[in-house]
Amino acid sequence: MDWGLKNRLSSIIKPHNNRALMLAVDHGYFLGPTEKLENPKKVIAPLLKYCDSLMLTRGVQRTSVAPETNTPMVLRVSGGSSIIGDDLSQEDITVSIQDAIRLNASALAMSIFVGSKYEYQTVVNLGKLVSEAESYGIPVLAVTAVGKELGKDARYLSLACRMAAEQGAHIVKTYYCENFEKVVQSCPVPIIVAGGKKIPERDALQLTYNAIKGGAVGVDMGRNIWQSDHPVAMIRAVRAIVHGNANVDQAFKIYKQLINEESKNKKNSNKQNKKPNNNPNKNNKPNNKQKKSNSNPKKNNNKPNTQNKKPNNNPNKNNKPNNKQNKKPNNQKPNSK
Ligand code: R5P
Repeated sequence: MDWGLKNRLSSIIKPHNNRALMLAVDHGYFLGPTEKLENPKKVIAPLLKYCDSLMLTRGVQRTSVAPETNTPMVLRVSGGSSIIGDDLSQEDITVSIQDAIRLNASALAMSIFVGSKYEYQTVVNLGKLVSEAESYGIPVLAVTAVGKELGKDARYLSLACRMAAEQGAHIVKTYYCENFEKVVQSCPVPIIVAGGKKIPERDALQLTYNAIKGGAVGVDMGRNIWQSDHPVAMIRAVRAIVHGNANVDQAFKIYKQLINEESKNKKNSNKQNKKPNNNPNKNNKPNNKQKKSNSNPKKNNNKPNTQNKKPNNNPNKNNKPNNKQNKKPNNQKPNSK
């Protein structure tokens, strides 16, 4: 494996714990303005600092993500069919490798539709994409699509994941299922699990926990984060499982604590906004002291995390990283894939 490819991969799957938290916001490529993702810019902004990488289309990347970000981009390069069209499986490669490089993609993503009418086309496209992307040191994430007519059990997903890996995909995104371990065991490259339709937050945390226990490197989650009423609290709770080795109870507790903090902060800022302007300044000029303290987030007690500081969602009391836990994720053998 070339240095560049290894380097890009390690920005997506963190080498220190072999874990990945990818935020998926690519849904519009076939669903249009998906509920609660109508304005991707607004959705992405508060979540970006809590994910390891962002999965998206080039249109959303160009319009809705600040180019100053350090977060790696996993660029979806397939598409062509819509939710109201004849056949969702009729996808082709829609982005050139040159454009992906211009967008500084850390990985390319495309779907394969095993067992569908367009199985051949999508699987061959994956092989070609891997060949092209590898010549530039860019890894490929294969998405094993599921649909009404496609299965979602371990037998089907094992087939689809293995086929993706055989074509050279460097990561495979699939769904969690019963006997998920079998899917992982028969796939020679890391597996990341999609969140799927919105379910109650605790269930989504359970899914995250189960996926990791079952051998996934992490989650590529979308709707269960940004369709939550509390997306930031939710991604931080998911992060606590993926990177903090929290169990479901601990992560859900974190989620609820963060909601409480959110509502306290809201109340405080509402109070502050209601305060009359008692500025004695004759000319009614803005009070510089007040102005400074409001515009400086560091002086605010509700300190937001800075862009580069990843939050520590470790349920450990002192919020210090638990080194023992980090060394031995989930007491499972480290995934050597
Ligand atoms: C689906 O094909 C898209 O690629 C999504 O990125 C994927 O389904 C993950 O998002 P969600 O967690 O909402 O299922």
